Amino acid sequence: MRRKILAANWKMYKTSEETAAFLQEFKNIFSNKNNIEIVIAPPFTSLETAHKEIKGSSFKLSAQNMHGEDKGAFTGEISALMLKALGCEYVILGHSERRHIFLETDAQINKKNISALRHGLKVIFCIGEKNEERDSGQTNSVLEKQISLGLQGVSKNDLSKVVIAYEPVWAIGTGKVATPEQAEEAHRFIRKIFWDTFGMDSASQMSILYGGSVKPDNIKELSSQPNVDGALVGGASLDPKSFIEILKGMA
Ligand code: PGA
Repeated sequence: MRRKILAANWKMYKTSEETAAFLQEFKNIFSNKNNIEIVIAPPFTSLETAHKEIKGSSFKLSAQNMHGEDKGAFTGEISALMLKALGCEYVILGHSERRHIFLETDAQINKKNISALRHGLKVIFCIGEKNEERDSGQTNSVLEKQISLGLQGVSKNDLSKVVIAYEPVWAIGTGKVATPEQAEEAHRFIRKIFWDTFGMDSASQMSILYGGSVKPDNIKELSSQPNVDGALVGGASLDPKSFIEILKGMA
């Protein structure tokens, strides 16, 4: 059975004090009947606080990015080793804001994926097409390319530590959510790529999350699609009450 996951990507929001306040409130209202894995990805500066707050709970800690090298003269960067030392279990890589605002290439993202997996971090690997790519019928080829370049050299064994987040760029932070049919179609296609490359077992075990304007009022339909195994949530994960509503809405 593949894991159901609900992940919060806080982006550049919340100081460490605000992180502690969120987690204290969230722990109080949290109940999880469906065995859904909760992943919290605060900014780097809140990782230590978040780690302390979630100790003893089932929540997992994630970073939002990292550098592909272990160490070196890379001012302002953070490595997989540093994230491990802070108690991270996951790292989000290839997010569309990294790709399109910070111009990360598939090759750089590949290096990060390899480094994270080598150090035992699980990866939430984000892929997704831009509006114009969807309009010109290139969605599948974009997804295929991002997967093949981003995961080049990843072994079948390490693939079990990879979670895919399908996040159409046009849906991120825009309030314009993919329809459940659009999400299911993309997720089915993504699973087929893994089936063709790594075989049925790996493909059927892989959790594929949807991301892009997920809200309490649209999660139910999205997550009831057979190939949607959860969500990566930005804006609506910043408030504990809306995040818990999303969890409750997950099928
Ligand atoms: P959003 O962001 O939920 O605010 O659209 C999702 C993401 O970027 O992961």
